[in-house]
Amino acid sequence: MALLEVKDLYVSFSTMDGVVQAVRGVSFSVDRGQTLGIVGESGSGKSVATQTVTGLTRGAKISGQALFEGKDLLTMTQKELRSVRGAKIGMIFQDPLSSLHPYYRIGWQIVEMIHAHEPGTPKAKARARAVDLLRLVGIPQPERRIDDYPHQFSGGMRQRAMIAMAMSLNPVLLIADEPTTALDVTVQAQVLRVIERLQTEFGTAVILITHDLGVIAEVADDVVVMYAGAAMESGARDEIFYEYHHPYTEGLLRSLPAYGEERERLRPIPGQPPSLIRLPSGCPFHPRCPYVFDRCRSETPPLDPTWGGPGHRSACWLPHTKAEREAVRDRVIGEAVPS
Ligand SMILES: Nc1ncnc2c1ncn2[C@@H]1O[C@H](COP(=O)(O)OP(=O)(O)OP(=O)(O)O)[C@@H](O)[C@H]1O
Ligand code: SF4
Ligand SMILES: [Mg+2]
Repeated sequence: MALLEVKDLYVSFSTMDGVVQAVRGVSFSVDRGQTLGIVGESGSGKSVATQTVTGLTRGAKISGQALFEGKDLLTMTQKELRSVRGAKIGMIFQDPLSSLHPYYRIGWQIVEMIHAHEPGTPKAKARARAVDLLRLVGIPQPERRIDDYPHQFSGGMRQRAMIAMAMSLNPVLLIADEPTTALDVTVQAQVLRVIERLQTEFGTAVILITHDLGVIAEVADDVVVMYAGAAMESGARDEIFYEYHHPYTEGLLRSLPAYGEERERLRPIPGQPPSLIRLPSGCPFHPRCPYVFDRCRSETPPLDPTWGGPGHRSACWLPHTKAEREAVRDRVIGEAVPS
């Protein structure tokens, strides 16, 4: 049994302008010790999907299942969810200041987190654990820096402190929502290393949300590519990078800065993602897809198995055999994604 198995999740919001269909029938799962990458452009429903699972989308209409250690998170009471959040599922966000309070010392906040869930822990022990965690995430001189305020830390250090706080109760699952987006490339890589190290050390499962396939390439075992609230393609990391089927995955790969001589050839996907209130008919990617044909405009393709392993699926009407798919690519695009 997977640690977390999300099945057919739908999330919508009623607004003045109409119903926002933020997540439309998404399924994914993550096993212990594994990393699932969820990737897609801004507004594709990545955050709403994971926040719904942890009970953080208020006022939304929700259906589906989110089985965590066999129990459905979507039917738990807020009280039950609060005991899962933090203790069993740690969360880190793009902006560390959304988790770290500016007026309290870093160490105090980690100690409070430990006390909130394990009230019996002696103060000295909780503090020692906080120092260990700060050391583990690479804060220099943690015995001294533990008494700093968040503003005394650099952006990268704050992000590490937030990871330390999320890991303070040794959760079995860590949800990291764009944890490196606000950081420069070097610090980004360091933060990813920290997450990886924790995972190896504690066997924590990780869901890593990002709009950057490059980040996914470094750490994910499995990947879900989301567009307009739905999964376009899913599979093992190498299937997504080297054996992709979906034109949207192809577009994301082409927009990655390639290395060496290819560096300048960065090609963003033309156009914008659709409104989630008025979705296009048929395939949601059709207005931007270089392969579009008649059927795409009227019929929505299901997420069907393709040529990779059992988890490799793609929601696209192009042929689901590798040779035929490549033949279409050669005809329409003329070249493969540089790898
Ligand atoms: N409370 C809400 N009420 C109405 N619409 C919402 C609400 N929360 C999110 N949405 C909408 O749901 C859609 C999906 O949002 P979500 O934040 O999940 O995207 P995302 O993939 O995480 O994007 P980003 O990369 O920018 O973080 C967006 O169109 C957003 O405007
Ligand atoms: S179904 Fe059609 S429009 Fe959609 S991604 Fe496939 S080829 Fe493109
Ligand atoms: Mg988001």
